Amino acid sequence: MSKSVRKKPAAPKKPVAAKKPVAPKKPAAAKKPVVAKKQTGAKKLAAAKKVETAKQPDVAPLLTVSDIHTYYGDSHVLQGVSLDVKPGECVALLGRNGAGKTTTLRSIVSLTPVRRGTVMFSGADITHSPTHRIIREGIGYVPEDRGIFSSLSVHEHLDVALWAAKKPVERRDEVVKIFPRISERMEHFGQQLSGGEQQMLSIARALLSEPRLLILDEPSEGLAPIIVDEVRDTLARVKGTGTSILLVEQNVAMALALADRVVVLSQGMVQFTGTPDELEAQPEIKDTYLGIA
Ligand SMILES: Nc1ncnc2c1ncn2[C@@H]1O[C@H](COP(=O)(O)OP(=O)(O)O)[C@@H](O)[C@H]1O
Ligand SMILES: [Mg+2]
Repeated sequence: MSKSVRKKPAAPKKPVAAKKPVAPKKPAAAKKPVVAKKQTGAKKLAAAKKVETAKQPDVAPLLTVSDIHTYYGDSHVLQGVSLDVKPGECVALLGRNGAGKTTTLRSIVSLTPVRRGTVMFSGADITHSPTHRIIREGIGYVPEDRGIFSSLSVHEHLDVALWAAKKPVERRDEVVKIFPRISERMEHFGQQLSGGEQQMLSIARALLSEPRLLILDEPSEGLAPIIVDEVRDTLARVKGTGTSILLVEQNVAMALALADRVVVLSQGMVQFTGTPDELEAQPEIKDTYLGIA
């Protein structure tokens, strides 16, 4: 599967054609049951979870990002981003290159400071908490560059993370079960792993601390289509364990297969929030902000 986003320059600033431009807090996703289309394998699992989430319209969000503004120097990159993720839910954050997706994730985990607005996690204000504390509070972060060390073995990567998370060795065994490929490569060094294996290891490592929310920055990037399917199926299994997911993707098809709700960003602003079905019903949003119709 190649990236499904054409790189068109300069999307219009205002979502003129959008019927429903900004509705970050509207619990529309919960009210409208998702009609699953083709349900096979991971899709079936994800669809089952979608229905489950849809049954809990009033459940309090696990993560609430409210009107955050983030700058790089004088450059005002995030201009009032709001979104939430409910327990057990998968939210896909989509948008073209440079839309502000990575900056949103980095702002949530305090790798880039938020200048205005708040980030609440599990009822606590984490806007200005240090990253290591946020991770300890229950957010797993899988960065875009995967952060794999070439001279550490798979085993060592996992052991270091296990130690940092202060978890017993049984937790490693639990996580490894979700990643059959990783379990076969325990003594391989980082540099010997394929891109897909590195991505799996990066996700496995983030899961060791038993996060309630896993956030991932373009896990499908640079991977062959068959491996993208494998990553998608792995994330469906992770979701099946009850872990909430905030997924940044340029691979719209992969993200929509997993997501209960979708947030579309452009130029540091939310242009759409809704279910995958609601996005399907608004081709102008897909065309304008994602480059697909
Ligand atoms: N370290 C940085 N310094 C200055 N500008 C940056 C930095 N990182 C990203 N940007 C700018 O911020 C905007 C959003 O970037 P980013 O969040 O990486 O977008 P996305 O992940 O959606 O591709 C872009 O215009 C990008 O050029
Ligand atoms: Mg990015």
